[in-house]
Amino acid sequence: MRGATEPLLRVEGLTVNYPGGRAGWLGRERLLVHAVDDVSFTISQGETLGLVGETGSGKTTTGRAVLRRVPLTSGRIWFDGHDITEIGGRELRRLRARMQLVFQDPYASLNPRMTVGDIVAEPLVVHHAVQGRHELRERVRELLRLVGLPPDAASRYPMAFSGGQRQRIGIARALALRPDLVVADEPVSALDVSIRAQVVNLMQDLQEQLGLAYLFIAHDLAVVRHISHRVAIMYAGRIVELAGRDDIYERPLHPYTRALLSAVPIPDPATQRERRRVVLRGEIPSPIRPPAGCRFHTRCPLAEARCRVERPPLVERHPGHRVACWLA
Ligand SMILES: Nc1ncnc2c1ncn2[C@@H]1O[C@H](COP(=O)(O)OP(=O)(O)OP(=O)(O)O)[C@@H](O)[C@H]1O
Ligand code: SF4
Ligand SMILES: [Mg+2]
Repeated sequence: MRGATEPLLRVEGLTVNYPGGRAGWLGRERLLVHAVDDVSFTISQGETLGLVGETGSGKTTTGRAVLRRVPLTSGRIWFDGHDITEIGGRELRRLRARMQLVFQDPYASLNPRMTVGDIVAEPLVVHHAVQGRHELRERVRELLRLVGLPPDAASRYPMAFSGGQRQRIGIARALALRPDLVVADEPVSALDVSIRAQVVNLMQDLQEQLGLAYLFIAHDLAVVRHISHRVAIMYAGRIVELAGRDDIYERPLHPYTRALLSAVPIPDPATQRERRRVVLRGEIPSPIRPPAGCRFHTRCPLAEARCRVERPPLVERHPGHRVACWLA
């Protein structure tokens, strides 16, 4: 079992390569997509870790690997004090009940031919988590209430709901088995800007009520600001900075984090005017042949010779503030 100081989730050296086809003469060279490379982090009970990075940086792969939904190339994962890297069968099914996924697209992720009641009930039925139809109906009703949907939602189809309401249905379903950890993969990116805050606030309320931990994935820093206790910044498959929320937003150390932040609007117009917008030049590097040394060197305004050769390790510069940059 997990000790009092042990985090709920511990990920060490997580690496995921996907097969990337073939190249070279007669296709003899087998290519690999280096999606996630040597990623380590922890999440405590009741905590939200925001995971932020551009498209293709490996966020979804990290989230899915944590849930053991993609094969790991290397690394280890502990959940609630148990090493879950290699578990399978019934043990893995039991674990999956305690770690759930909320998807980005509430339009594509809900089966349009099932009623909302059946969608929310499905995990309870599959995992034999309730006894009899009465308990099932009560539990579905309770879950719908928890996410702010009316009880009569159960008999309707997803089509009848707006994007924000559909995401509430997805959240109700994810919470059905009373998980400890929810991986939320860009849960508000597909939603109208005006309703994003409502869904984020709901997730925050649920966290307080139920003691949930979140891995909250987003591609911009504005979305995760209010919900995150700590934030990890990913670039080209690696975590380049990981710190408490205030350190990330007020004292960022990595040039990439600074560039991301410069695109986030600040409510105070004076501060906003003073701040220089850092525009990142260059392409996101190919995950098939990622740059040597610091993977950010092809776009970094501060890059020097060493950056092109030696990989900067993720080291703690201040208590709880880790950064991977030779100059930070
Ligand atoms: N099944 C797969 N097979 C091969 N390559 C894959 C597979 N899934 C993802 N990739 C590649 O791995 C890299 C990381 O993808 P991932 O989906 O984890 O990134 P992401 O940060 O979630 O991006 P986005 O913001 O677009 O969702 C990308 O280059 C992607 O094309
Ligand atoms: S290690 Fe070098 S290239 Fe990488 S972020 Fe730091 S200064 Fe830029
Ligand atoms: Mg993704």
